[in-house]
Amino acid sequence: MAAARRAFANAPHSTYGYGDPLGRMELREALAEYLARARGVHADAARIVITSGFHHGLGVLARALAAEGGETVAVESYGLDIYRELLRDEGVGTRPVDVDECGARVDQLVDIADAAAVLLTPAHQFPTGYALSTERRTAVVDWARRTGAVILEDDYDGEFRYDRVPVGALQGLDPDHVVYFGTASKSVAPALRLGWAVVPDSLLPAVAQAKGRVDTVSTLDQLVFAEFLESGAFDRHVRSRRRRLRHRREVLIERIADAAPAVHVIGMAAGLQAVLALPVGSEERVLRVAGRQGLVVSGLAEFRHPAADGHPSWPDALVVNFSNVSESAWPGALQALCRILPSP
Ligand SMILES: Cc1ncc(COP(=O)(O)O)c(C=O)c1O
Repeated sequence: MAAARRAFANAPHSTYGYGDPLGRMELREALAEYLARARGVHADAARIVITSGFHHGLGVLARALAAEGGETVAVESYGLDIYRELLRDEGVGTRPVDVDECGARVDQLVDIADAAAVLLTPAHQFPTGYALSTERRTAVVDWARRTGAVILEDDYDGEFRYDRVPVGALQGLDPDHVVYFGTASKSVAPALRLGWAVVPDSLLPAVAQAKGRVDTVSTLDQLVFAEFLESGAFDRHVRSRRRRLRHRREVLIERIADAAPAVHVIGMAAGLQAVLALPVGSEERVLRVAGRQGLVVSGLAEFRHPAADGHPSWPDALVVNFSNVSESAWPGALQALCRILPSP
């Protein structure tokens, strides 16, 4: 609210007209500073494009890649189907590369000769919960340089690492071959519909063309967010949210260890989702019970790319978002979750 008051008080007259289709310069400048500091992103404001969230940004990039003749994007074998469908809607097919505990098997990219890009979640693979290893970060950048393809880096929850300082964005290794995507959906709320892409110079004209002629995010929202960043209030907000989420994750692990010792939380201490490895063969049964109790949880298998052969095989598992219930509803939700897990 304070950020909104300050942003409105200082808003220039131009705020009330149509904005720059790439976004307000005030926000792009504030993001350039924040992303360099918090995520090691090489960004100047001219290469930052404001979007209505990652979903929108990915659609714009898919259109830009398709306009330049791209027909295929490699994706992680586990991921959200809405993004695969979005790419398909823009005329771009997807081919999976396997995912293991070191992140995406980027060595498999050589088998996808026509890939114009690879879509990755390097800081915290969604949904399996591991980071892309140092060797693979270097290898995928080498692949992009060799082939002229781009890496689409979905840094959806990079602010939320609980056990150490987060690894910087992959984009920092090679800003000319990586499109970096960030979002306010995890740090603030999905309802804000606010995201940003840092685009290599070579792709900027195609991206500007694909984005269209009018701005897509309310100028006022952009100014408020710029003020939120510049005043330091966003940093304070993220720090306090990180503390609360770390605590939730720790309590989740403790309760599960007590209530269902056969279930193990796997993946890094990061993010807003936890992966609960279940006893072999129990995923479908647990999901049925959850459904009957009205609990919203997902099975890991539902994230698998239809063309993935399931190798290396991941355990039966639940993917649980532990951030999307209020403080008052959280104890009850956790109790309900523990009740549906297989007991010893
Ligand atoms: C893997 C992944 N990427 C990106 C996002 C953010 O998408 P958006 O900015 O469109 O809300 C999410 C949000 O849930 C996500 O799970």
